Amino acid sequence: MSDYQYILVERNEPVGIITLNRPKELNALNFSVVSELANALEELDRDQTIRCIVITGSGEKAFAAGADIKEMSDKSPIEMMVGGFEAWERIRRIHTPLIAAVGGYALGGGCELAMHCDMIIASENARFGQPEILLGIIPGAGGTQRLARTLGKYRAMEIVLTGAQMSAQEMANLGLVNRVVPKGEHLNEAMKLAQTVAAQPPIAVRLAKESVLAAFETSLEEGLALERKNFFLLFATEDMREGMQAFIEKRKAEFQGR
Ligand code: COA
Repeated sequence: MSDYQYILVERNEPVGIITLNRPKELNALNFSVVSELANALEELDRDQTIRCIVITGSGEKAFAAGADIKEMSDKSPIEMMVGGFEAWERIRRIHTPLIAAVGGYALGGGCELAMHCDMIIASENARFGQPEILLGIIPGAGGTQRLARTLGKYRAMEIVLTGAQMSAQEMANLGLVNRVVPKGEHLNEAMKLAQTVAAQPPIAVRLAKESVLAAFETSLEEGLALERKNFFLLFATEDMREGMQAFIEKRKAEFQGR
């Protein structure tokens, strides 16, 4: 595993854990952090022994308090464009399921990073929001789109236009957070969920993730066609035979990822 300056990467096979590690800056996402994150995610994504990845923040106060305002404050549009924003696209294309374990602030790019994940577990002290408007900008890593698709137009508008922070429970009620757990328990709970996902047959998991994500990017017609093709494709896997045979024989399935 490569050396990283701003993140910690652990393999607790079959789960990979990435910790944003700038606690003094509340894990603010400078260009190097996002680039390291994309590199580490791609490295774990290629590793057949890793079946689920948890992303969390170090320290008690924040998952990530947004893009690094100090780094961005004097940038030109071109510097922003070439500065590494495409790393977000690389994070979006990770096949392995991602779980955000959020304690404290998930603001701006931090909220957007959580929304790049496939599930979000939050401590009761977690705070979500897109405060960019207060800085004279708007979310730039998918915040307007993912909030609108998840919460609907009216809630998304309020969050993006006012910069208001939302509690973990409010976000759970609105469907953005899977589970709210007592303060400090977010990583443990995310690990439990990750272990459960990691125990499933990996090819089915990969195609399931692809199929659900297609719901955000295609018409219903196209999404249904993709789902059906992925469904048929899984009948070519040994894990499908094993899963069904194990059910019939009343035993636990042993999945091999083939
Ligand atoms: N970028 C750069 N540095 C940040 C940061 C960010 N997004 N968020 C926090 N920090 C730094 C602070 O500047 C401070 O550094 P300092 O000790 O050198 O002054 C340190 O992290 C601690 O933050 P501080 O503001 O003192 O903590 P707080 O508990 O009073 O407030 C927040 C916490 C999250 C409410 C506040 O830090 C904040 O509003 N951050 C910016 C959130 C934001 O606008 N994000 C979107 C960016 S596009």
